[in-house]
Amino acid sequence: MTGTLTPVLTAHWDEPDSFTLAGYRRHGGYQALAKALAMQPDDIIAAVKGSGLRGRGGAGFPTGMKWGFIPQGDGKPHYLVVNADESEPGTCKDIPLMLATPHALIEGAIITSYAIRAEQAFIYVRGEVLHVVRRLQQAVAEAYQAGYLGRDILGSGYGLDLVIHAGAGAYICGEETALLDSLEGFRGQPRLKPPFPAVAGLYACPTVINNVESIASVPAIVASGAAWFAGMGTERSKGFGIFSLTGHVTTPGQYEAPLGITLRELLAQAGGIRAGHRLKFWTPGGSSTPIFTDEHLDVPLDFESVGAAGSMLGTRALQIFDETTCVVRAVLRWTEFYEHESCGKCTPCREGTFWMVRVLDRLERGEGTDSDLDKLLDICDNILGRAFCALGDGAVSPVTSSIKYFRDEFIEHAKRGGCPFDPAAATAWAGK
Ligand SMILES: Cc1cc2nc3c(=O)[nH]c(=O)nc-3n(C[C@H](O)[C@H](O)[C@H](O)COP(=O)(O)O)c2cc1C
Ligand code: SF4
Repeated sequence: MTGTLTPVLTAHWDEPDSFTLAGYRRHGGYQALAKALAMQPDDIIAAVKGSGLRGRGGAGFPTGMKWGFIPQGDGKPHYLVVNADESEPGTCKDIPLMLATPHALIEGAIITSYAIRAEQAFIYVRGEVLHVVRRLQQAVAEAYQAGYLGRDILGSGYGLDLVIHAGAGAYICGEETALLDSLEGFRGQPRLKPPFPAVAGLYACPTVINNVESIASVPAIVASGAAWFAGMGTERSKGFGIFSLTGHVTTPGQYEAPLGITLRELLAQAGGIRAGHRLKFWTPGGSSTPIFTDEHLDVPLDFESVGAAGSMLGTRALQIFDETTCVVRAVLRWTEFYEHESCGKCTPCREGTFWMVRVLDRLERGEGTDSDLDKLLDICDNILGRAFCALGDGAVSPVTSSIKYFRDEFIEHAKRGGCPFDPAAATAWAGK
């Protein structure tokens, strides 16, 4: 465990020109690219494997291993696709990263493409964030002009084209195979796996799909070495990551720290829960990860420990709620999101999220009964493990975990015939 922050990706975010090529180069930007182009592609893959970097997009799959699955000498084009769709409620690290230091992502994308022998890369950005799209386009234009993109990069003989692609704004397009369908011009819906994208991805060719933060971490690993990166974090969750603290915290923001830091330590950095209040519940990795309570303040935030405590590290989106928040209302809002974003391809998720919203809404208004909790859990049981993609499983997480920790609060709504947190309620509820 550690209480120390380790700003690497976020180190220069507060500089006024951090997003420009000049600002990026002032701190050694694109030196890792020059170093990488002098290496053999397989040695870069070996270095990333050795660093222990695991995907920062949620699932935590080892990045170097993913690159190693790309078949070599197959005669087919290879592609790199950067997943910049960032739409999970609470997740808010990739967008500031791309705004503040787009060149870190571009440099990482070039090094990765060289390593997997791709000559075409894409950054698939969430469509609503037009300011990010423009910033990336501007940075890509600068990189072309400086000879970091295009033919014969830095005289190495290697060439790469990088396209910024704006999605149309759908959470499901962050799921990697739905993203590929969308990028190909189809309606974004998940594909059946296998085949996995490493074998048959974009245009049925070998494709690596990685999260923005995963790819942006690559230049630092190449520049400072795998051992440096692996020296941070825990035994199986190595390196640093961006922890996004939002909600009822004194100083919300992005805190870059070694994996394994605890919420208690992060709160100490962020000035604690807002004055006069106490922690009630929080998400360790976005709304798709089961909620935690104040019992979990000392759980090390690494993939293994969070899993062992009953949740998932996800995207390290720490949404913090104090005792003034109605958990039923919060879960209803999240579930409405999943109902809206369900792509409709499979029945358990399409129908299940619809009915969960109806039952939760009834409960939140105080018109539900105890048996509605069993009904909710039954719907969850019919979604979990039976849905076509992980969106369905994610939709279940807030519901089951909130009933596990706050069953009394659900029942209190039914007893009172209304929400005990409603300011209009005559007496405040003394529950959690
Ligand atoms: C519904 C859904 C939405 C997702 N959204 C994103 C996203 O916005 N960004 C992202 O990197 N990964 C997202 N993922 C995870 C991706 O499918 C994939 O695992 C990830 O991009 C792989 O990159 P990584 O190995 O670098 O983490 C999502 C998954 C699901 C099921
Ligand atoms: S789980 Fe939901 S989002 Fe995923 S394929 Fe099924 S309907 Fe679509």
